[in-house]
Amino acid sequence: MAAVVKSFIAKNSNRVGFGKATWERPYSSAMNSSLPQKILVLGGSGFVGHHVCALLSQQGCQVTVPTRRLPARSVQMLPGVSVVKANIHNAVALRQLMQGHDAVVNLVAILHGSAAEFEAVHVRLPSLIAQACEQAGVKRLVHISALGAEVDAPSLYQRSKARGEHILREAAQRDGLALTLLRPSVIFGADDAFINLFARLQKIFPIMPLAGATAKFQPVWVGDVVQAIAYALAHRQTAGQVYEACGSEVFKLQELVQLAGRFVGHERRILPLPTAAAYLQALMMELAPGPTLMSRDNLASMEVDNIASGQCAGLDNLGVAKPKHLGDVFPAQRGA
Ligand SMILES: NC(=O)c1ccc[n+]([C@@H]2O[C@H](COP(=O)([O-])OP(=O)(O)OC[C@H]3O[C@@H](n4cnc5c(N)ncnc54)[C@H](OP(=O)(O)O)[C@@H]3O)[C@@H](O)[C@H]2O)c1
Repeated sequence: MAAVVKSFIAKNSNRVGFGKATWERPYSSAMNSSLPQKILVLGGSGFVGHHVCALLSQQGCQVTVPTRRLPARSVQMLPGVSVVKANIHNAVALRQLMQGHDAVVNLVAILHGSAAEFEAVHVRLPSLIAQACEQAGVKRLVHISALGAEVDAPSLYQRSKARGEHILREAAQRDGLALTLLRPSVIFGADDAFINLFARLQKIFPIMPLAGATAKFQPVWVGDVVQAIAYALAHRQTAGQVYEACGSEVFKLQELVQLAGRFVGHERRILPLPTAAAYLQALMMELAPGPTLMSRDNLASMEVDNIASGQCAGLDNLGVAKPKHLGDVFPAQRGA
């Protein structure tokens, strides 16, 4: 079954088609004038990254995006954006990439992997980034972490994210790096991999066996996250702060899946899985060939609700007064 799901997703890797990604917001020209001119965007080819690059490009910044493999279609046609093939895990290559830039945004992360892979991407890479910033004289870093990043969190993903944050905070103090940390909840958008995945699955399967059905999320629109990143880049006083990037609505996973089905006019019956069955489903998903859609580590992360802690500042402190609602981006289809 897991293999069938994976093969289906692989064959239908295009999004379900909610139209063009519309992240644009009226953008303050005052902010534009204070944006750094030359920005290195690590992970700029990804889902959030290409929206960041589009906004920075629109604002006249010069942006460099390293990638492991060319072409990076999501960004390479954007005016002012240079895409280069590079191994950012190599300290020398990373330092050379940073030369001449005024600021760095780090969006590199993985959702699935071994303990060693999480360590390399979420812990060692931030350490290399801090070191390269120091050597190349870059004094501004905006790092995208994740809600729930705690050293004692249930998942490797969240624990490694917390350790990466910790390393960067130490480096910021030691080297005088102006560091802003952003912790988003799940991020949605017309071209996301979350709502779209559940929408696609419901187009094809008659019922939805669902792990973590009661886990809570506070989804945030990609356009609002991008706006917040740009605001942080433009406002140095955001350095030294941790911001939780959450929308204004809280949903159980089950509700999000129902909404995803409604958006494509195929709302299916959801079958919440008990813990043991959920674990087995995640294990099968990991073992099946092809990209992993769900892992035991993802399951572990849902043991803790993914909602704002209230301990940190929020998006309203980053120029986003009214976060977009899920239904604004994914309107229900008629007859759903
Ligand atoms: N999407 C969400 O719902 C969500 C929620 C909370 C937090 N976040 C955080 O937001 C940030 C951006 O997420 P996203 O959804 O945009 O991620 P994404 O679409 O998976 O993009 C990740 C980017 O990182 C690069 N990358 C991945 N693995 C790498 C590796 N081993 N070495 C070097 N580069 C690697 C990829 O570049 P190439 O393939 O071009 O090399 C890609 O551009 C991440 O820090 C993530 O943890 C996302």
